[in-house]
Amino acid sequence: MHAVAATSWPHTTWTAALAALPDLDLWWNEPLARHTTFRVGAPVTCLARPLSEAALQNLLRHLRREGIAYFLLGAGSNLLATDKPWDGVAIQLTHCCREIRLEAPEPGVEAQSLRVGAGVKLARLLRFCVQQGLAGLEAVIGIPGTVGGALVMNAGTRGGSITDVLDSVSVMDASGERLELPKSQLAIGYRCVTLPEQSFIVEARFSVKSSDPQQLREKLQVAMRQRRQTQPLGWPSAGCVFKNPPGQSAGALIDRAGLKGLRCGDAEISTRHGNWIINLGHASARDVLTLMHIAEERVLQEFGIQLEREIKVLG
Ligand code: EPU
Repeated sequence: MHAVAATSWPHTTWTAALAALPDLDLWWNEPLARHTTFRVGAPVTCLARPLSEAALQNLLRHLRREGIAYFLLGAGSNLLATDKPWDGVAIQLTHCCREIRLEAPEPGVEAQSLRVGAGVKLARLLRFCVQQGLAGLEAVIGIPGTVGGALVMNAGTRGGSITDVLDSVSVMDASGERLELPKSQLAIGYRCVTLPEQSFIVEARFSVKSSDPQQLREKLQVAMRQRRQTQPLGWPSAGCVFKNPPGQSAGALIDRAGLKGLRCGDAEISTRHGNWIINLGHASARDVLTLMHIAEERVLQEFGIQLEREIKVLG
């Protein structure tokens, strides 16, 4: 997630000018609770979905010129939005970066190149891979994010991470310029990828290999079954809240600290998995943050380990 500093301005001025820009699907005063998997979050002044890459460039240039705050919103699956209204623009790439293209294989080369828009949901990408018999991206099974969101946080499971099969990303900077960066030019770490300042991913190129669709389907079904057994998938949440400390499991540490089942308002540290906080109905961001603070403090006290947050907190 990328945000630029907010400045104060009269709403009527900037909203009218924004509404006049071409090819934008605009949602005013849109509750972020509708766009985050936690189902938490007050309204953002405007949710903007550019209909084309040109419209996205135009929007970015406008926001920069006018000093209007903005951030990139993926599937909202790793985000805790605030209880206070957020004054600015949330940009979603669902319409302008939604293509999946398999490039023609080069003679004699086993790997194939798959170009995917940053706004594509991982579930759709995996369905495409199964249908086409393309292996490589199975590690991200069950992660509810978009390709762009999953890449910036190097999302993954014990089976690997999304960047394992990454070749390059195309990023856009705050002035709308597009640049393709090979994987070798990215600083890739555990659950994070560092991009050039104020830029975000619009497209990625992955290297995949031909595989039997039926075998792929079965592999994914087994992984999903395992997740259902160990994770509270039926509840609104943002998945794992903390990164795993080196050689440790954050969930196991929170479990050993005796915190599973602890509630604050309608937020609960899941009884199924200690690293998940679930929303039982009307949890606020404050409820979730309170549980996060308690988990951080108790794990530090009992094991001397400082947990690091995996989810992003807006504001
Ligand atoms: N464990 C406990 N108590 C708990 C939870 C876990 O004792 O309450 C133990 C488990 O028994 C196991 C170990 O801790 O021995 C690890 O647990 P698990 O296999 O569930 O994996 P994890 O490290 O907690 C990681 C990813 C998940 C991913 C799973 C499955 C991170 C931070 N988490 O979880 O990713 O789904 O592996 O591959 O890397 C996410 O990032 O949002 C996420 C859910």
